[in-house]
Formats: sequence, C-alpha cells, structure tokens
Amino acid sequence: MIIGVPKEIKNNENRVGVTPAGVTELVRNGHTVYVQATAGEGSGFVDAEYEAAGATILPSIEEVYGIADMIVKVKEPIESEYNLVKDNQLLFTYFHFASHEPLTAAMIERNAVCLAYETVERADRSLPLLVPMSEVAGRMAVQQGAKYLEKPLKGRGILLGGVPGVRPAKVLILGGGVVGTNAAKIAAGMGADVTIMDTNLARLRYLDDIMPANVNTLMSNEYNVRQLLPTHDLIIGAVLIPGAKAPRLITRDMLKDMRPGTVLVDVAVDQGGCIETCKPTTHENPTFIIDDVVHYCVANMPGAVPYTSTQALTNATMPYVLMVANKGWKQACADNAELKKGLNVVNGKVVYAGVAEAFNLPYTPVEEVL
Ligand SMILES: NC(=O)c1ccc[n+]([C@@H]2O[C@H](COP(=O)([O-])OP(=O)(O)OC[C@H]3O[C@@H](n4cnc5c(N)ncnc54)[C@H](O)[C@@H]3O)[C@@H](O)[C@H]2O)c1
Repeated sequence: MIIGVPKEIKNNENRVGVTPAGVTELVRNGHTVYVQATAGEGSGFVDAEYEAAGATILPSIEEVYGIADMIVKVKEPIESEYNLVKDNQLLFTYFHFASHEPLTAAMIERNAVCLAYETVERADRSLPLLVPMSEVAGRMAVQQGAKYLEKPLKGRGILLGGVPGVRPAKVLILGGGVVGTNAAKIAAGMGADVTIMDTNLARLRYLDDIMPANVNTLMSNEYNVRQLLPTHDLIIGAVLIPGAKAPRLITRDMLKDMRPGTVLVDVAVDQGGCIETCKPTTHENPTFIIDDVVHYCVANMPGAVPYTSTQALTNATMPYVLMVANKGWKQACADNAELKKGLNVVNGKVVYAGVAEAFNLPYTPVEEVL
C-alpha cells in the first residue's frame, strides 16, 4: 500500500502521524511511504531520518495526498485540506466528528474512508488510542500545576515537594482514571501530599493498593470536595463519564473557599470541564485568574510536548496502521473488532451511531460497508 504522512498544519500542532521507526516497519512489510518535507521536525525527526528508514520525502502536502492510498496523521484535516482528500482515500487520524459538523459534511462529500483513532475500542470498552494522550496529560498536569504555584506566575508560592522541615503542597485529584493515576504518580514522586477522589470504589481500592504512602483515596461527593478545597494547593480535574459532558464537581461559589493562589488544572476541559469556571485556553495563553484562583485549562495539553506525545501516540497506533496496510481497511476491520469500531464515515455513509445522532444524519450499520 502507498502510505502518505502529511505535515500537520493545525495551529500549534507539532506531532506527526508516523515516526522513522514506523516507516521502517511499514517498508519491511512491503509498503511504500511518502512523508512531507519537515513533517517530523516539530517532534525531533528530520527528513534524513525518514529517508534512511526508507521513506521518500515529498515537498508539498498536495503531492502527499495526491499519491497515497492511506493518509496517516494526528489531527483531523482542516478546511484547507478538505479538497486534497481523494475519492475513496483512507484517512487514519483523530477526527472527533461529533463535535465538528463541517468536517463530517466534507468527509462525506469527498467520499473518503475515515478511521478515527478516538473510537477504536477494546472489548472492555477502553480506548487504546486515547490512553497515551491521557498518560501525557496526567503527568503534565502536575508539571504545569507545580509551575503555576510559583509566586511570579500568581500562585501561592509553595514548592510542591516542600523541603526538610517544611510541609509539602497538598494536591487533590478529581477522578482516578488514566489522567488521575498518572497525575498522582508524578505528584507523589515529587513528594506532595496527594488525595485522589473517584466515585468508583473498586478503582479506589486498586489505587490504594498500588500507590505510595503519600497518596490517599477518598470517595468523590460534594461534601468531601467542599471539605478539602480550603486546604489544597493544586486541584486537578480528571473525571470522565464516557459519552457525556464532564460532571461539574467544582462550582463557582466554591472558589471563595480556596486560598488565593490555589491552582486549578482542568484536564477534562475537552469534555466541557469539571470545574464550572474553566473555559478552554491555549498554550500561548494557558491560564486566567478568577477570585485569585489560577485556572489552567489547555484543551490539547500533549501538544506542548510533541517529542514525547508523537512517540506515545505512534507506539499505540502503529500496530493498527500495519494491520490496515497489510490487509486493506475492509479485511482489517472485518478481522479486528477494535479497528472496526474506528470506522466513522465510509464512502459517503455515516457508520458510527454517535456521529449520525449528533447531526441527524442517516446511519448505516458498519457491517453493510464491509
Ligand atoms: N486537556 C487535554 O489535553 C486532555 C488530554 C487527555 C485527556 N483529557 C481528558 O481528561 C479526562 C479524563 O480522561 P481519562 O483518560 O483519565 O478518563 P478515564 O475514563 O480513565 O477516568 C475517568 C475517571 O473519572 C471517574 N469519575 C467519573 N465521575 C466522577 C466523579 N463525579 N467524581 C470523581 N471521579 C469521577 C471515573 O470513575 C474514572 O475513574 C477526559 O475528559 C479526557 O478527555 C484531556
């Protein structure tokens, strides 16, 4: 199969869909890979590394879309890319169709085959191509939180780990899933006094078993949240209810219970946020202040660490990319139930129920297109 890797052109996106290691695997399996010039630069991979791995570098995005059977990238195509998509071309990337009607309409109109990373799903309902980004965001949440607790950045001026003779900072993590667990690990490693809240008692039991002694677990309910707010320095929002908006666990009236310089990092902002006062921010302007409380609500946190994020993402995507390249999308999806869940739009038909519902479009069961 001919595989094309375009350079990401969405604002501030420095990740890339395939690394030189991925090219090596694809070439070893008999495929041909075209990479757009400088596509990997933001993630630390220069063109010469791709060439050494067996790829051919093409100067323009038009040439990459023009030659490829399958496009492998990171973010959804932006408007200027819509017309580059060829009839029947396969695109494997994050799409998040349900929140983007023009993109959905464009992919239907272009007669593309769209495999979406975010809906590839295992039998246990976990989302293997979202997990790596949650791992990055969870770890980064503590790094950012620690930074914004510094006085010049309007924080309380407290060092996360304390020093001998001085208590460490207190970190509250709402949600003990992938983001929350990764945040807890890093905060605990830095010596903070950490509490993780979740509504899932089985999850709290598990965390209690595996976490170090400076991590405590607590049932998540409004009473407990209110009790902890006045004494905690860094609060990380990491809740998720699959398929729904994040529940609001911290409401505006609760800000007055926090000390000035408290830092809120709402990682769940991409699902509407679990802190009422959080609105999506960008890496250029990551924070704002309400009632002396610092809010950090960047919706694409992994974008700030593309070197790590690209490798984390491609470690997870490459087995699926290879499957599709080796068998073609139809056979690969027929053989693999996880991959089949990734099909969203196929040759003008919406085959993912959530997307059809979101825009009141006709739904075609995926089996009908295989
Ligand atoms: N901002 C970013 O850059 C970024 C990056 C990755 C993930 N995210 C977001 O982070 C959020 C968390 O993702 P995840 O992968 O950890 O999800 P997850 O499903 O692994 O974990 C979510 C946890 O929240 C818990 N939960 C649900 N309701 C709760 C409540 N009322 N109180 C406490 N806990 C509750 C669940 O029991 C679960 O353990 C999602 O919204 C995800 O989209 C954002």
